[in-house]
Amino acid sequence: MRDVAERAGVSVTSVSHVINETRPVSIELRERVLEAMRELGYHPNRLARSLRSGKTHTVGIIVPDNANPFFAEIVRGIEDTSFEHGYSLILCNSDADLGKEEYYIGVLTEKQVDGILFMAAGASTDHIQSLLERHVPVVVVDREVPGVTVDTVLADNARGGWLATRHLIEIGHRRIGCISAPVNLTLSAERVDGYRQALQEAGIPIDEALIVPGNFNLGGGYRATQQLLALGEPPTALFSGNDLMAVGAICAACEAGRHVPVDLSVVGFDDIPLALYTNPPLTTIRQPNYNMGVAAATMLLERVRDPELPPRRIMLQIELQIRRSTSPVVPSPTDEP
Ligand code: RIB
Repeated sequence: MRDVAERAGVSVTSVSHVINETRPVSIELRERVLEAMRELGYHPNRLARSLRSGKTHTVGIIVPDNANPFFAEIVRGIEDTSFEHGYSLILCNSDADLGKEEYYIGVLTEKQVDGILFMAAGASTDHIQSLLERHVPVVVVDREVPGVTVDTVLADNARGGWLATRHLIEIGHRRIGCISAPVNLTLSAERVDGYRQALQEAGIPIDEALIVPGNFNLGGGYRATQQLLALGEPPTALFSGNDLMAVGAICAACEAGRHVPVDLSVVGFDDIPLALYTNPPLTTIRQPNYNMGVAAATMLLERVRDPELPPRRIMLQIELQIRRSTSPVVPSPTDEP
């Protein structure tokens, strides 16, 4: 540190303030110190620094499925924001399993992360409660956890289900299937509620046989669509709780000799990059995936700086992205003229 101070023409104390962010310094001084560190190849000892400051400048993230492109986009927003503020990440995959989620909460608290960005595996109320009781800064992202008051960033799931279903109704569909998200998630009920509300507003009776539980992955969408197409009176359209299941639905329809959208219109939820490249390109509900990550990381770093902030809840808006997996219903020969 003495060599850095000499090279930068500042005091050792100033170098310490820049490295440990223990006091505001001018941009000019900070740049001189960082330049001197680069020229001398000086890398402060992170472990020693964290022992001194009580901060690790590390953020933990728990996601239910890191292979799902939706979560990858959220994590990208988190990583860009964290890197900008000098924080590194520890990414944990719970596999949507509460036991694995609990294990990773233990790992992250042992590693003394400064905060956790939490995408729930399921009914994770107790897990969040235990973190709050230990005063670990937490932001719940995407999946609201009932029964706890905690910083939360999510999208308007009910409106998404309503927009998707209303779109299908507006192009003439009345037999509309719904592949729901995993039933243990709050957002699943919200999306199905939006589906039900749109049908009720249009005076279309709800047939519970058209609502099939899904599991958010390709195979779940494939099997749920097979079930819907096997009904005595199959749907002419379906709303899928996420894009991966919608891709599985398109595959199942094609294998059953049904053409999308003419025989079966399909709407997804998320608008992952893949949605542009399905055949046909997927009509879906666009979530602000990347911006949800940015908002959540920003909220967490604010909470780390000021633990006394009142809990906040940010709901981001979604929008309908109409592509070519939906089209007006084709009247069947038996339809009344
Ligand atoms: O595709 C993954 C789904 O789980 C998304 O709809 C997102 O909302 C998450 O909860």
